[in-house]
Amino acid sequence: MSRLIVVSNRVSVPQAMGAAGAQGGLAVALSAALREHRGIWFGWSGKETESFTGHLDMQRNQDVTTATIDLEPQDIEEYYNGYANRTLWPLFHYRIDLTEYDRNFGEGYERVNARFADSVLPLIEPDDLVWVHDYHLLPLGSMLREKGVTNRMGLFLHIPWPPTRLFVSLPNHEQLVASMLQYDLIGLQTEEWLDSFTHYLKKEMGLKVSDDGVIEYEGRRIVARAFPIGIDYEEFVASARTELAQGAYQRLKDSLGHGRKMLIGVDRLDYSKGLGERFDSFDRFLTDNPEMAKDVVLLQIAPPSRGEVASYQLIRHDLERKAGHINGAHADVAWVPIRYVNRGYPRAELAGFYRAADIGLVTPLRDGMNLVAKEYVAAQDSEDPGVLILSRFAGAAPQMEDAVLVNPHSTEDVSDAIRQALHMPLPERRRRHERLLASVRDEDVVRWRENFVGALRGEHGAEVPLDAR
Ligand code: ADP
Ligand code: F6P
Repeated sequence: MSRLIVVSNRVSVPQAMGAAGAQGGLAVALSAALREHRGIWFGWSGKETESFTGHLDMQRNQDVTTATIDLEPQDIEEYYNGYANRTLWPLFHYRIDLTEYDRNFGEGYERVNARFADSVLPLIEPDDLVWVHDYHLLPLGSMLREKGVTNRMGLFLHIPWPPTRLFVSLPNHEQLVASMLQYDLIGLQTEEWLDSFTHYLKKEMGLKVSDDGVIEYEGRRIVARAFPIGIDYEEFVASARTELAQGAYQRLKDSLGHGRKMLIGVDRLDYSKGLGERFDSFDRFLTDNPEMAKDVVLLQIAPPSRGEVASYQLIRHDLERKAGHINGAHADVAWVPIRYVNRGYPRAELAGFYRAADIGLVTPLRDGMNLVAKEYVAAQDSEDPGVLILSRFAGAAPQMEDAVLVNPHSTEDVSDAIRQALHMPLPERRRRHERLLASVRDEDVVRWRENFVGALRGEHGAEVPLDAR
């Protein structure tokens, strides 16, 4: 079996998983995938060094070898805080209003990708499969090709791909996409993002793309397909059965008081998650349903993320103000409507919190997938399950049509959905949950990884005709 070289911006050692902190979907999913594969996980250590040395810090933990490099302050500013999180992230989440175009960011992005290429190169052996992740590293494959790497290389993008009309606002968009076409396989989360990507290839580059995603470019064939990511179902269900989970469940239930219902939101503090709109919707629900108001609580867990980027500082400030305002307007001496918590929790505790919640409120304005929706479903008690309210604009929505699907921009829509969920009869809750659970269980992270790595190996025959180099 070929070794797997995984490259991503962050490397999260599996042992550290479950620790408090803002863990993104990528870290959670990859630790599960690497647990079963020999190989190396390469990326940035998350640490700063005065001047770049290229020193590789190699470590071995639970069958996963990690190799990390430190970056200079200017690298972090221009590549991570800059091009990745001030340019690509907002643009790819349809927030052209927040997108900053700065040549220094673009140069920093190129420089750090070149540093990644130089540093990972000596680790790559002839038969290895190279699997690159996410928007931080789109040009890495082409830089490795320039250095003579002929291995099969795949890219998986964890975030949406924007519509062509937005994407073309990016200076050098042609160059960026041309560099991506040096991979053999490009994976996106959903058919919708895949359609946007192939639309760009056809309309802007005049390329031919077959119905099964084979792109012809400069005499080579590249495959683009949707691989919806899932959660590590077995691990999550096991953690939901631990004493830690049970304790968290009980503590939270006891704190609510008799008969009070709880809604839960768990999201990195990111403007794409629609937290402000969610608070507004809950505010509307309280105003429009005074007879039910004091019987519900919204627990919003939102660990801070990307705090050096101004738009993230702003959203943090706005949410604090909004939560304070809503609580001030509605609270009573023995009831506060919003519990707003800015910290991370171990996964087992999180599972207990999900289980204690009658409603999972997952309302991103745009999201590549959204694993919280899947975790919420996996954590429920099948006999008396809660209801998932899910944004139509989450990548998870097409797989989770038995959720109550909402338009997160409409406070009326979300408020109505909360009301509907609170009144939903047990048989309907069970029916919806059973179908949601089946998809969360069957389309899990193991299947995602097997499908992607299988396609990268060319195992599916004519379906993915990867060319030999
Ligand atoms: P994103 O990758 O954009 O952060 P996802 O919903 O796909 O969004 O993944 C978020 C992951 O981070 C989930 O696995 C979720 O459980 C985890 N997470 C989010 N907030 C917390 C928190 N406060 N404590 C622990 N884990 C968290
Ligand atoms: O899922 C998208 C993503 O950007 C991941 O790549 C990342 O691990 C996660 O969100 C958290 O973001 P950050 O690494 O910037 O804290």
